[in-house]
Amino acid sequence: MTTRVWAVVPAAGRGTRFGGPVPKQYLLAAGEPLLAHTLEALLSHPGVAGVMVVIAENDADWPGWNALAGKPVVTCSGGDTRAASVLAGLQALPESVRADDFVLVHDAARPNLPPGDLARLLEVGRADPVGAILAAPVRDTLKRAGDDGGIDRTEPRERLWRALTPQLFRRHQLTRALLDAAAAGVAVTDEAMAMERQGARPLLVEGDERNFKVTTPADLARFEFELSRRDG
Ligand code: C5P
Repeated sequence: MTTRVWAVVPAAGRGTRFGGPVPKQYLLAAGEPLLAHTLEALLSHPGVAGVMVVIAENDADWPGWNALAGKPVVTCSGGDTRAASVLAGLQALPESVRADDFVLVHDAARPNLPPGDLARLLEVGRADPVGAILAAPVRDTLKRAGDDGGIDRTEPRERLWRALTPQLFRRHQLTRALLDAAAAGVAVTDEAMAMERQGARPLLVEGDERNFKVTTPADLARFEFELSRRDG
């Protein structure tokens, strides 16, 4: 049997684009915080051993879970950026997670992760020396804007993908890549970008568009709609 993986869930963002006093990961959908939906989506896969949730220091909204779906839920404090929070999570993982073990990193704000996508990512990514990410091909036509707001040109969208999460990398390699990016002052916006800087070429695994990031109130309504379709 293959080893089970741990997941790191950065949830230390304040959700400033969303507005309102409650960080977006704690907004309720079908009576549960978004974060609970996200953690349940990860933990329902038999290959996931536990989750490290990275929360803001003095997070008054954290519900204090220490287990969900019969698996351990542990926490640590995050940093000023998503990358700093992920790094803190990797460093705080239990010792049972070895340097070469794969670790999933998944945004707290993506509660609608399809089980089949997670299964495929784990299968494909663990067979690769580097790892893999879920991603969706770009379907719209892309425009490059000029300073005046006019269109400078149309960018070819062939071979362009939108990076989603989870992203799957080896604990030690990802830690090193994030440390190196931080030391170089490079703001990496996902884990793959940190790995790419090291010369690695993570695999793209096509994932469902419905694994979207909740950023605006309309996204929350969309997630509630997806939940009602699941139940129906
Ligand atoms: O802000 P954005 O939607 O890009 O955040 C993506 C994820 O990273 C969210 O789950 C958010 O809570 C997390 N994050 C974090 N620490 C930060 C900023 C964002 O854990 N400093």
